[in-house]
Amino acid sequence: MNASTTTAAPATKSAQLHASPIVEQAIDRAIDEMRKVQSGINAVRPPLNEELAGRYRELLAQASEVRGKSKLFFDYHGSGLGNGPFVELADGSVKMDLICGIGPMFFGHSNPEVTRITMRAAMSDIILQGNLQMNEDSTDLSNLLVEEASGSSKLAHVFLTNSGCMANESAIKICYQKHAPASRVIAFENCFMGRSVTMSQIGDNDGNRVGIPLSTLVDYLPFYDAERGAESTCEILGQLDKLIARYPGQHACFIFELVQGEGGFNSAPREFFVALMERCKKAGIAVWCDEVQTFGRTGAMFAFDLLKLGEYVDVCTIGKLSQVCACLYSKDYNPKPGLLSGTFIGSTVAIQAGHYMLDTLRRGKYYGPDGAIAQHHKRFVAGIEDMASRHPEWFGPILDHNGNEMKRIKVAGGLGGMMRFTPFGGRKDPVNKFMFNLYDEGVLSFYCGHGPFHIRFLPPLGVMKLEQWDSAFEVVERALARTAKEMKA
Ligand SMILES: Cc1ncc(COP(=O)(O)O)c(C=O)c1O
Repeated sequence: MNASTTTAAPATKSAQLHASPIVEQAIDRAIDEMRKVQSGINAVRPPLNEELAGRYRELLAQASEVRGKSKLFFDYHGSGLGNGPFVELADGSVKMDLICGIGPMFFGHSNPEVTRITMRAAMSDIILQGNLQMNEDSTDLSNLLVEEASGSSKLAHVFLTNSGCMANESAIKICYQKHAPASRVIAFENCFMGRSVTMSQIGDNDGNRVGIPLSTLVDYLPFYDAERGAESTCEILGQLDKLIARYPGQHACFIFELVQGEGGFNSAPREFFVALMERCKKAGIAVWCDEVQTFGRTGAMFAFDLLKLGEYVDVCTIGKLSQVCACLYSKDYNPKPGLLSGTFIGSTVAIQAGHYMLDTLRRGKYYGPDGAIAQHHKRFVAGIEDMASRHPEWFGPILDHNGNEMKRIKVAGGLGGMMRFTPFGGRKDPVNKFMFNLYDEGVLSFYCGHGPFHIRFLPPLGVMKLEQWDSAFEVVERALARTAKEMKA
């Protein structure tokens, strides 16, 4: 992929180009310059001046106009430069990005090593790679994914795609084909899978499928209820048995989000998944893990690995952090030719950057109980708990969607680099208000959950330093105080 690392005589003209000292020096100089300039992006700050702020307002108005009713979520337009967790916006203001575009920017903004890779990738002959035309870097990335996945599972093949949703579309087709004519799918309540016609139907959010004809047959089961523990596992298992008995041989797959993303960063113990997956195996239902959000960040590269569930997994989809998305499948689920294809699987830049990131993750000290991800999670939880102990008035009892108090859920939780905290009892309005105040004060976050509502962080743990949480918490505290005051007014 990157011929500059070999010492042998270049075999191809491409290798010759990449081995060229002229190219190397040009990239070094550009990166040095970038490092110098980006070092000034190192703290949250307001717009640089009124002129830029005015132009920014115009830009946002144009963005709203051109998109029609599909408005921007935040008033966000980047300038194109950042520095680790800090990102400069087009008005010269700087935000601390703890949501990273809902996940992809795990290695931060304007990461010099990533930029170095992407500058080389930009010299490739093709901008986008696809099924008919790909370069060796596509297969390098595919090999890396299969190598990582196959250590503890039967996943043996991979198909690259340009979105998480397309990875899921590939997965559902594979499951349908293998189990034809089974036409039903099982999913957890509050799941999210993307926004194609099919995935919008499976995703458990009525607002995301307004006007879409319902052609996909979905049976929902509740996700594990931590308040009720093993009792909830038994109950859900009973419901699964009923479904299987009601529709014998008609379920093609059960879709597992091992940590629910949009659903509220809900996790469950291994035993819960084992119980359900064993039933699936017995009934001949494919076990598909949607790891589009969990991939890379829970404490192992695959969450199924962390939970030691690899033996059950038939199909797995990944995305976000990997830059290029993918559907992995076992030999048993290898689809017939013609089922999966596409003009684009991803850009050359994304393919090479994705390879670099995954390779860095597997070689570095990110995973395991003492890895960087675990340390950041501890620091995050401690910071929120400290705030909650000093300001209990901002963290009332957490209520479920029926208004019942949830006694087991803590103010801060999630798994690894999927971090959530729950101010104002998880009530929708104050949590929403807080999220926008937090943005305004300088930290980018997002919400998750459908009651209780939480604030979620998917921080750039690939580059973030532990001490940078201090500046994040300062802003969080300011935004909480502001929201509490506004709620009283
Ligand atoms: C679990 C899960 N699956 C699928 C998707 C869809 O991915 P994409 O937005 O890349 O299509 C998402 C996106 O948030 C997700 O969280």
